[in-house]
Amino acid sequence: MRDVAVVGLGMIKWGELWGKSLRTMAVEAGLAALDDAGTDRVDSLVVGCMSSGLFVGQEHLASLVADGLAKGPIPASRVESACASGGLAVKTAFMEVASGMSDFVLAIGVEKMTDVDGGTATYALGTAADGEYECFHGVTFPALYGMMARAHMHRYGTTREQLSAVAVKNHGNAVHNPHAQFPQAVTIEQVSSSVMVADPIRILDCSPVTDGAAAVLVCPLSEARKLKKHLAVKIVGVGHATDTIGLYARKEFTSLPAVRLSFERALKMAKKTREEISFAEVHDCFTIAEVIISEDLGFFEKGSGGKAVLARETALGGRIPINPSGGLKAKGHPVGATGVAQICEATLQLRGGCGQRQVKGAKVGLCQNMGGSGGSSIVHILEANE
Ligand code: COA
Repeated sequence: MRDVAVVGLGMIKWGELWGKSLRTMAVEAGLAALDDAGTDRVDSLVVGCMSSGLFVGQEHLASLVADGLAKGPIPASRVESACASGGLAVKTAFMEVASGMSDFVLAIGVEKMTDVDGGTATYALGTAADGEYECFHGVTFPALYGMMARAHMHRYGTTREQLSAVAVKNHGNAVHNPHAQFPQAVTIEQVSSSVMVADPIRILDCSPVTDGAAAVLVCPLSEARKLKKHLAVKIVGVGHATDTIGLYARKEFTSLPAVRLSFERALKMAKKTREEISFAEVHDCFTIAEVIISEDLGFFEKGSGGKAVLARETALGGRIPINPSGGLKAKGHPVGATGVAQICEATLQLRGGCGQRQVKGAKVGLCQNMGGSGGSSIVHILEANE
């Protein structure tokens, strides 16, 4: 396998983007990544998107975006793994470069979610759960994570205040992220008294419905060094795992085994230890998800993830900063774009370019992207490389 580096990253400002189509967002992010890399070369394109069919009535997405990019008749593929579609796009691009099949591969993640009403968005998102045994009975994603939160509270004593502290931290980080959808600070009291969605999940515990795109250009490390525009950032580990698609079929609701497994696999490939990780971008689709993921990644003992947030151990400057970008909670969660945006953030952190949200001395970054209620998880480990 060849060594692979991220050589360009492209983000657009996320939010409710009435003036931009799915195609426009994807192309803008893709061209921004090329501009950032300082090259025009794209040998192949991978697009990660969960449900352009249900959200905007458009399929054949890889060709649509390739056409929009106007880089010639390049091969283009679309990959899907629900909210982990972006992570899967980066993994696919990594494999294409590592194998020697292509040199410069552009991975774009995109989703346009706000053109439909809230009920339709909830229905579209629900197709990532078990249709037959969950959604057809009225279960939604806030409800699934609500059950996880209740179980975690019951088993480990996790509190309302601890969940709120996740949102407070992530909104606080997003204040310094120019691409974030909700760059406003919130207080524990505001989160704890916000509108109830699915007990105990309140609106400020939820990632929002978002329009957005993100892109990374990957290439062999040897080519990245030739471009010399930025410090090369190497993808040193990739781990991928699946689990039961339905939450009901799990042994317990308080752990996400696919997260643990995907991280172990990525660490093994990277030949690194957990202690070497400088910061993590994780899939905080709901505040409880960040708590459970931080435990399953082994940063905290099972049941103590909530206490760690309140003790600021996951804040910027804490023992292991989590979601310096603002996370899905405050940066936004255009589902197919999220996994690619995590790689953008990690790359920028490792280049030392994150300004006020910079993790000091960042050397090794972790990105964990998840599909549904943990039916899939993809982890990338990135390292700054001279
Ligand atoms: N965080 C912060 N603010 C939010 C928010 C969020 N998650 N969601 C909405 N808001 C704000 C809006 O900007 C709006 O503010 P305004 O009145 O100042 O304009 C207000 O809250 C109401 O927004 P609205 O769009 O009417 O909310 P909604 O009730 O339609 O949707 C949720 C709220 C929580 C139901 C929706 O965001 C949701 O479904 N989130 C989960 C998405 C999901 O499941 N993703 C997949 C995860 S696996």
